[in-house]
Amino acid sequence: MMAAQQILLAVSTVAVILIGRWIIQTIQWNRKYKLPPTVPGVPIFGNTFQIPALQQGPWAKELAEKYGEMFTCKFGGNTWVFLNSSRVVTDLMERRAAIYNSRPEFPMTQGIMSRDSRIVLMPYNEQWRTVRKIMHQILSARALDVFMPFQDLESKNLCWDYLETPDRWWSANGRYANSVIMSVVFGRRSSLDDPHVVELFETLELFLENQQPGVNIVDAFPVLDKIIPKFLQWWRPRGDRIYEKTAHVYRREVDMLENKIKNGTAKRCFGTDFLKTDEVKKMSEVQKLFVFGTLMEAGSDTSRVTIGQIIAGAVTSPDWVARARAELDKVCGYNAERLPQFEDRPNLSYISAVVKEGFRWRPNIAEIGAPTMLIKDDEYEGYKFPAGTVFTWNAWAIALSPKEYEEPERFWPERFLNGEEESALKGHWGFGPGRRVCVGWKVGEMNVWIAIARLLYCFDFTAVPGKPIDTMTIPQITNNSAPFAVKVTPRSAKHAALVRRDCEAAAKTQY
Ligand code: HEM
Repeated sequence: MMAAQQILLAVSTVAVILIGRWIIQTIQWNRKYKLPPTVPGVPIFGNTFQIPALQQGPWAKELAEKYGEMFTCKFGGNTWVFLNSSRVVTDLMERRAAIYNSRPEFPMTQGIMSRDSRIVLMPYNEQWRTVRKIMHQILSARALDVFMPFQDLESKNLCWDYLETPDRWWSANGRYANSVIMSVVFGRRSSLDDPHVVELFETLELFLENQQPGVNIVDAFPVLDKIIPKFLQWWRPRGDRIYEKTAHVYRREVDMLENKIKNGTAKRCFGTDFLKTDEVKKMSEVQKLFVFGTLMEAGSDTSRVTIGQIIAGAVTSPDWVARARAELDKVCGYNAERLPQFEDRPNLSYISAVVKEGFRWRPNIAEIGAPTMLIKDDEYEGYKFPAGTVFTWNAWAIALSPKEYEEPERFWPERFLNGEEESALKGHWGFGPGRRVCVGWKVGEMNVWIAIARLLYCFDFTAVPGKPIDTMTIPQITNNSAPFAVKVTPRSAKHAALVRRDCEAAAKTQY
């Protein structure tokens, strides 16, 4: 009896001490820091169970409408501040990029699935700077001359695919974007039925699924990675399997290129040059694979999705298509005389505005932005943020806010006809803010521009009866199938003849 009482006393004392310590720490924390309004959640897990696993944009937009320019959520042990206006995104993620653009820890998606080698999840460190510099060399505006001939050839092949196999328009978009980057990086093209392309998109979708907040407990509570011994981490075998699959897909391409270099059949490309550099010799084998792999992945999915979004915009609000066509016809002929070319760009500002509107309209590449981490305590407009706070630009909320854009739900390229049509980063957040801004933005924008100019000139896009497009719920993860239904037909017999005349050779070119 005495012993039981003593145990009870000891347990109560420990509980009182712990609660007391927690209260003191909370008081001290509240004196030192102040966060924007917090969305109520449950103890320990916070808002983890409220955020939808996919399509989080509409959810986060609704919260922005309720809470204003900033609100706070807790996803497990991570505190996220959502920035809901261009004003605060510019103030914090752009002007204070030096401290706001690191990345939080992701023990599952970065640690296990990517062996700490995926640039998009790297914190600010030497490794990130090295990889970013390499990517910049390949993708910067100066490198565009290298990309343009491939974008020209591959977009002709795209038109050919739309003519010959219109039902496969989505796979054709994926092949197009993938083949541009494969040509530049590996010196080889990809085909419509390429099983490697299918597998690449599968691994990318696995990554995107796992990256959603709340999907992996250890990413919500990174401390678990430190306190649970590796052999007891039940998530690890799954992460290892995804890593193996991903590395296999990347390695297969790198091995093919290395073999071609050995037997003297390699076409000169970024890969052949890169594999000779000192940088690559200093790099781990895994890091090398992820440099190549990220280029393939990031270079393929983003363009296919954006071209798809513009097509959805063409089907659901055809008024602007007529205006785009008027411009295209003036430049390229009313009777399908010739395809639009890059040289036409100064005379095709409306098309550039269409592309910008495509990036803005339904930003479903990163619906709630991409999380970055503050690395130093900071103050802003009465709030005091502790180092370690995660920030994100609330992409869907900003893009669809009437305070930011007139008639935001409308696909309306005219909003970007302001003399800055070719400044692809201005006026929307499709490529992200600050130092983490997409390193391939120029290549991505050119990919979409030439494809859209040619597709709009040559094809009509209409709804499939009985299958209307709900543009607010176009999914990003689709297991390689089209995210919505669309009927693709040539604009006229003359346009079909133009595609046959000018695009067949591109479709048959092999290297
Ligand atoms: C159609 C176009 C594209 C769109 C809309 C797009 C969008 C984005 C977004 C939203 C981010 C995250 C930015 C952030 O974290 O703040 C990003 C990062 C990135 N993108 Fe793109 N992207 C596009 C094309 C490309 C292309 C063609 C490549 C390369 C071939 C590429 C490579 C990357 C890389 C490597 C990062 C990570 C940068 C870092 O964390 O430092 N992107 N992109």
